[in-house]
Amino acid sequence: MRTVSGFSTTASRCQGSVTLPRALLALAGSMLVGLPAMAQTAAAPLPLAVRSGCAARGAALYQGCTGCHSLDENDLGPRHRGVVGRRAGTVGDFRYSEALRLSGLIWDEATLDRWLTDPQALVPGTRMYYTVRDAQARADIIAFLRQQVVSPARGASGPG
Ligand code: HEC
Repeated sequence: MRTVSGFSTTASRCQGSVTLPRALLALAGSMLVGLPAMAQTAAAPLPLAVRSGCAARGAALYQGCTGCHSLDENDLGPRHRGVVGRRAGTVGDFRYSEALRLSGLIWDEATLDRWLTDPQALVPGTRMYYTVRDAQARADIIAFLRQQVVSPARGASGPG
């Protein structure tokens, strides 16, 4: 339930923020009242300083990752579902570089942002070379990944 309502709130808010005409911004402002509630229901504490991402845009941007990753199956890269909050290099049946496996990183907004900016700088020797230059795009992708939780059996929302 939390994931579903969180998603729709996020999606409508960020679609608006991209295309909304100036005259409607005041209206959008009233939607911000919903924010504290969202923050309370978030799975992990999210510092307000973190750039807020748009999961709906992130879902589209994630297509850039799917040459090597998917949510539920290992490919050239490890599967992503549940990655936010996970320790780096710990998908059991994926063969990581030693560099990433021993990195000791926990994937959260901050580490993922640095990773997507330049994986080689964060973890020298990693086998991932893909970079995302645009900070907002990184935030959007991270917002999307954040929603891809490992769900208990009661069938939480899947991708799309
Ligand atoms: C060209 C292939 C390629 C692309 C494209 C790619 N990755 Fe990766 N990714 C990898 C590989 C390979 C690894 C494993 C690196 C290692 O073992 O050092 C990895 C690892 C990761 C990890 C670490 C996961 C873990 O379990 O520790 C994350 C997070 C990640 N990628 C996110 C992304 C995101 C998000 C995108 C798209 C913006 C992306 N990657 C695009 C190849 C890719």
